[in-house]
Amino acid sequence: MEPILSVRDLTIEYAARRGKVRAIRSVSFDVRRGEALALIGESGSGKTTLGLGIVQLLPSTARIAGGSIVYRRYSDTGQPMRETEVLTLKDADLRRFRWAECAMVFQSALNALNPVLRISDHFADTAKAHRYLSGPRQGAALTERSRHLLSRVRLDPDRVWRAFPHELSGGMRQRVLIALSLLLEPQLLILDEPTTALDILTQRNIMDVLKELRTQLDFSLVFISHDLSLAAELADRVATVYAGKIVEIGEVYTIFRNPHHPYTIGLIKAVPTLTSDKSELTSIPGSPPDLIELPSGCKFHPRCPLADDHCRREEPELIDVESGHRVACWRWQDARAVLKAYQV
Ligand SMILES: Nc1ncnc2c1ncn2[C@@H]1O[C@H](COP(=O)(O)OP(=O)(O)OP(=O)(O)O)[C@@H](O)[C@H]1O
Ligand code: SF4
Ligand SMILES: [Mg+2]
Repeated sequence: MEPILSVRDLTIEYAARRGKVRAIRSVSFDVRRGEALALIGESGSGKTTLGLGIVQLLPSTARIAGGSIVYRRYSDTGQPMRETEVLTLKDADLRRFRWAECAMVFQSALNALNPVLRISDHFADTAKAHRYLSGPRQGAALTERSRHLLSRVRLDPDRVWRAFPHELSGGMRQRVLIALSLLLEPQLLILDEPTTALDILTQRNIMDVLKELRTQLDFSLVFISHDLSLAAELADRVATVYAGKIVEIGEVYTIFRNPHHPYTIGLIKAVPTLTSDKSELTSIPGSPPDLIELPSGCKFHPRCPLADDHCRREEPELIDVESGHRVACWRWQDARAVLKAYQV
């Protein structure tokens, strides 16, 4: 499948009082047309920074220290139309890219709606800001499309359209935001922890909506989460992120059935399942590294039961271990041996 986004050697740093936070370190990956790619990892591993870097909405303390992000637009019939280097986009072009090509729903999205505006105004403002559907029939067409999107995310347009955000539940607001992000028909949608603040039933509902939307509408998805079970449900491919780097990436089935990085194995084995015995549950020892003073060599070595001198000395790069499955670990062939060491 053709890539719509190619991220290469992307490096992002934050300036903090204590020094330089190396949040994303030379990350490379593709997002393919129509696929859902899940980025998973512990808190602070750099997932949100990566998403914000793609849509160029990083805070002013952040700096892109290197790399490139190439976005490719395809026609409705799947023909490649044009290529854009996102990092060089400015002003109107960048604003257009952000909504019409690639939209992001933020991690703290539940507070993202303006409390004094009705839901209808949010759709109208977004359309106006991006000159979407200009012309004499703009109002009617916009209302029709917006209400259609609201019903796609399983909201009753009659109930929601004139409502203020405070009149809606958290799950309803999250669904409004997903509908709003799809207004300008982006090719790529980035969802940062879309269900985290929600109860389990509402979470279920949002997941069903996302699955439905993916079959009905033609967009690629980057799904950021620390919840592996949600990633497994929605994603075609999964990438695990550790200390600002992708350490393993592959088809969802491969990553869950045959993981090769000790960190990925630790993440998977820490998730309880209905059929797993309590004694099968494991946890990764230690905590994520300080991104200002990173360990030498492989950044996972202080927590890895397999770490040896080579690991402590030199950082491994992602290599192909089988078709479409890439791992950054010197000892990927022995990785299953870590299971015993993780046992709780
Ligand atoms: N504005 C900032 N200034 C300085 N450091 C920051 C800033 N934002 C994030 N960081 C640091 O960058 C690193 C990556 O943060 P990021 O928010 O991308 O992680 P995350 O994987 O999304 O975590 P979570 O799962 O908790 O959302 C963390 O160490 C964090 O402390
Ligand atoms: S490179 Fe070494 S320390 Fe890093 S994950 Fe692999 S075995 Fe562990
Ligand atoms: Mg985050």
